[in-house]
Amino acid sequence: MTDRVITPQKKEEDLPIEGSLRPRSLAEYIGQEKVKENLEVFIAAARGRSEPLDHVLFHGFPGLGKTSLAAVISNELRVNLRSTSGPVIERPGDLAAILTNLEPGDVLFIDEIHRLNYVVEEILYPAMEDFKLDLIIGQGPSARTIKLDLPPFTLIGATTRAGLLSPPLRDRFGVSLRLEFYNPVELKSIILRSARILGIAVDEEGAFEIARRSRGTPRVANRLLRRVRDYAEVRADGKISLQVADAALKMLDVDHKGFDGMDRKILSTIIEKYDGGPVGIETLAASVSEEKDTLEDVYEPFLIQEGFINKTPRGRMATRLAYQHMGVPYNTCGRQLRMDQV
Ligand SMILES: Nc1ncnc2c1ncn2[C@@H]1O[C@H](COP(=O)(O)OP(=O)(O)OP(=O)(O)O)[C@@H](O)[C@H]1O
Ligand SMILES: [Mg+2]
Repeated sequence: MTDRVITPQKKEEDLPIEGSLRPRSLAEYIGQEKVKENLEVFIAAARGRSEPLDHVLFHGFPGLGKTSLAAVISNELRVNLRSTSGPVIERPGDLAAILTNLEPGDVLFIDEIHRLNYVVEEILYPAMEDFKLDLIIGQGPSARTIKLDLPPFTLIGATTRAGLLSPPLRDRFGVSLRLEFYNPVELKSIILRSARILGIAVDEEGAFEIARRSRGTPRVANRLLRRVRDYAEVRADGKISLQVADAALKMLDVDHKGFDGMDRKILSTIIEKYDGGPVGIETLAASVSEEKDTLEDVYEPFLIQEGFINKTPRGRMATRLAYQHMGVPYNTCGRQLRMDQV
């Protein structure tokens, strides 16, 4: 967990309210139209045949609604949801205990599924394919295998790093869906819905201003809404208008693109230290004193999505938009002009 107010990763302050803000049905789940359309068909087909839904893999950046979708699916199917996560399942026995306790049709949700260790993963293969459990009990000559039938179930896996999933595991999911960043109109609807649930007074323009600056991510939108509410209560009349949202977000160092000091540091480093790039991710990480993985998973995706950084085989490059945003003149070679050339 980081100190950034705009981190897409879960922060301590999000925990108490995430549950209450989670959409319960597909109809309540805003945006991700393609994903929803697919799920509607699969869910209706599974219910029509009274079969469990095919195993589903969700991948996408943190805070885009993967865990929420797992809950929505189990609600729509009217079955139990059992949740666990990759790093928590340490031994095959842990997974066996979970699987044997499922009821027919249940949804088993495994978050961070790319972090399952391979011995556990191997137990999962026959379970996913044939609803069978092959367990080895004991060690050495006295070891024996027991085979158990499992109730038919649906596995929903979620990962922020689809690339790290082993191919045999990936292949066993019948459905693989990628969650995209949300547009500001969708985020505005999410903010208005959250405001209603939490009893926060916000007008359309105020909600849109927060939406525009929420980095395409519902979790960030909900967090900014609460921070702006605090500001509105202390510095204004408690209502979130465009002016109040703008002033609050300025105070929080979230600019009109949703970038904070770290984003701007990344952009200015590429532009000023590396002449606009290309610069390798390792070098860039060292220059901004961040871990390479954090840079790739947390900071960079939104900057790439918004067209501020280009990912090339030779490294990261700052785009024209990045120069504009940082107020640095840009020429067609992609290089910074020296002041005497301007
Ligand atoms: N489509 C949506 N409509 C309304 N609210 C949403 C939607 N997607 C996400 N949210 C809100 O955003 C919060 C974060 O979503 P969620 O926990 O499902 O993300 P995630 O993709 O599982 O994140 P992580 O990768 O960190 O596990 C939820 O509490 C929920 O309130
Ligand atoms: Mg999640």
